[in-house]
Amino acid sequence: MKITVIGAGNVGATAALRIAEKQLAKEVVLIDIVEGVPQGKALDMYESGPVALFDTRTYGSNDFKDSAQSDIVLITAGLARKPGMTREDLLMKNTAIIRDVTAQVMRYSENPIIIMVSNPLDVMTYVARKTSGLPKERVIGMAGVLDTARFRSFIAEALDVSMQDVNAFVLGGHGDSMVPVVKYTGVAGIPLTELMPKEQIDAIVERTRNGGIEIVNHLKTGSAYYAPAASAVEMIEAIVKDRKRILPCTTLLEGQYGIDGVFCGVPVKLGKNGIEQIIEINLSPDELEALQNSAALVDKNCKSLEAMFS
Ligand code: NAI
Ligand code: 2OP
Repeated sequence: MKITVIGAGNVGATAALRIAEKQLAKEVVLIDIVEGVPQGKALDMYESGPVALFDTRTYGSNDFKDSAQSDIVLITAGLARKPGMTREDLLMKNTAIIRDVTAQVMRYSENPIIIMVSNPLDVMTYVARKTSGLPKERVIGMAGVLDTARFRSFIAEALDVSMQDVNAFVLGGHGDSMVPVVKYTGVAGIPLTELMPKEQIDAIVERTRNGGIEIVNHLKTGSAYYAPAASAVEMIEAIVKDRKRILPCTTLLEGQYGIDGVFCGVPVKLGKNGIEQIIEINLSPDELEALQNSAALVDKNCKSLEAMFS
């Protein structure tokens, strides 16, 4: 198993270390455009092996050749939004980066599974699929696992229960339009609605929607990376170990949930082949409408990029 992580920034480096510590691959390659940074971080990680007890070899590089024959590629490269930059500017700039990075990945690996992290997530997953030409099962976006982890952690804290016993689903696009599905959320099989009043649930749902910005407001110069990296690595572990985990991931919908030809977060089965099944759960009319509206926003942004692909 060889895993390449593109982007040696906060999310990429944290994810690479977690992959090594969990020994999910024999080799982890960290690639970035900044000279020295991936090399230095990867060597530093490798030197932690004797005390952190792993044998995974971590390498850093500025050359995509070193990603050759990767089984899984985690893409975290890109820019964060800066003052004065509109969402559209970011969309265009990151599209150019993800298109270039994906093309480079495909030059050296025949049939990798790509896991996208870069924002805007759903659109960047579309860009990677379009550029790579990989089967839809092999291009997967990470957002639902993170949004669900935030939702689960807030519920665990409010009820003073183990995080492990809280199950939940946050679906839809990654952003303000995400859809936390309360009906499928609970603790050890007990529906959340039996454990806390509606006002408290609504407040937690709202905090979940704003989970990304809450961290940005603390950090000021960057966005979240511990929970995002852990979430991406949970997906990688499901694939590497062929665990058939049911996780909310961004995938190409082709009619499911009444959405066609759009990347959107829904529950999927993750195993060695990537997305092995898209699971359709019963949603209330309001939840279904919210999911479809969220997908429509993603679709609008993807369509705005058509000129870049013609
Ligand atoms: P960061 O700024 O710490 O790291 C990004 C890295 O990408 C930098 O080291 C930069 O040099 C590198 N890079 C830029 N262009 C490149 C190229 N062409 N080839 C290789 N490397 C390149 O940012 P951070 O915090 O690691 O976030 C990365 C991305 O992930 C951002 O777009 C962020 O918005 C997104 N994100 C998405 C989440 C999700 O839930 N999907 C959660 C957290 C972050
Ligand atoms: C987050 O939700 C920035 O998308 C990133 O933290």
